[in-house]
Amino acid sequence: MSESSAHDIVTVRDLHIRFNLGREKKTSLFRPAAKKELHAVRGINLNIRQGETFSIVGESGCGKSTVARALAGVYKPSDGEIQFAWQDSAAQGNREQNGTQMIFQDPYASLNPRWRIGRSIAEPLMLAKKIGNSRQARQYCGELLEQVGLSARDLDKFPHEFSGGQRQRISIARALATQPSFLICDEPTSALDVSVQAQVLNLMRKLQREHGLTYFFISHNMAVISHISDRVGVMYLGRIVEQGSVEEIFARPAHPYTRLLIAAIPQFDNPDVIREPIRGEAPSPLAPPPGCAFAPRCPYAKERCHQTMPPTHSLSDHHQIECHFPYEVMAHHDSIPLAQVS
Ligand SMILES: Nc1ncnc2c1ncn2[C@@H]1O[C@H](COP(=O)(O)OP(=O)(O)OP(=O)(O)O)[C@@H](O)[C@H]1O
Ligand SMILES: [Mg+2]
Repeated sequence: MSESSAHDIVTVRDLHIRFNLGREKKTSLFRPAAKKELHAVRGINLNIRQGETFSIVGESGCGKSTVARALAGVYKPSDGEIQFAWQDSAAQGNREQNGTQMIFQDPYASLNPRWRIGRSIAEPLMLAKKIGNSRQARQYCGELLEQVGLSARDLDKFPHEFSGGQRQRISIARALATQPSFLICDEPTSALDVSVQAQVLNLMRKLQREHGLTYFFISHNMAVISHISDRVGVMYLGRIVEQGSVEEIFARPAHPYTRLLIAAIPQFDNPDVIREPIRGEAPSPLAPPPGCAFAPRCPYAKERCHQTMPPTHSLSDHHQIECHFPYEVMAHHDSIPLAQVS
């Protein structure tokens, strides 16, 4: 789905991540027990451009965090490759120290509750050996706190003295300390109240503009995705089933799954519209079906959908979809308003 271009800072090609879960219970005396494997990411392609927010959206368990961890270098690809623009091709794996940082859903994941926050913010600098004397470090960390809307006076406080939104601001300051160019944000606002969510998202956009940051952003919330993204990949059982610019995805969603996700967004100006959750459950990544993984839940599925993996169609330069019958599905969609799709 992705052609590499001069402005791409990350290129992911046919990425697979399989988790080895040991062996099945032995059922035969003569045959060795089968290996148990969970295929969490099943061949995804994407490219992330300098300065943009590329988002992944999808239900719990579809593999979003696994992709994020693979980009962060926590998991090695089982197959396929991940290339960073700053990686010298002659020295694969030698990632620039301050290239990438991560922000998580739970700020406690990056803030030690027993440390004053000044120490937490300075820690990545110390690890990268980028710290001057302690007075300079203190001044720099105070400035970082001011950039995220807090005060240099907060340096000596502990994480529990802050609200959830403030703690997330602190982990953003910490992530920015080493001046990374690429931030991996795994559901950074999902634990926050809606109004606080919007403030943190606005802060992230401001920092993106000011520092020329590139974001890989994960959420299961379509409203958040529409607010923050330039381009979106819709993930279902380890594959990206549709990707495109945020405008295209929201104005002309083509995949039945994307359509259902958008139809499920609550509309405050039209609360009378009844929104049905997507019926049924995703198949298990322990035994992915042979055909389209969405077929068991798809209102349009035909025999072929259950048997063979769907091909990729380019609907425009900015919009690709994996589906056997995209044009039939879209023709049907166009005859019903989005709000009535269920
Ligand atoms: N370290 C691991 N070992 C074994 N299985 C794993 C591991 N990490 C994730 N999985 C499995 O891989 C699949 C994808 O998990 P992942 O955490 O990437 O989903 P997700 O889309 O981030 O979900 P959520 O929205 O709940 O955070 C799940 O079935 C999960 O149980
Ligand atoms: Mg996750």
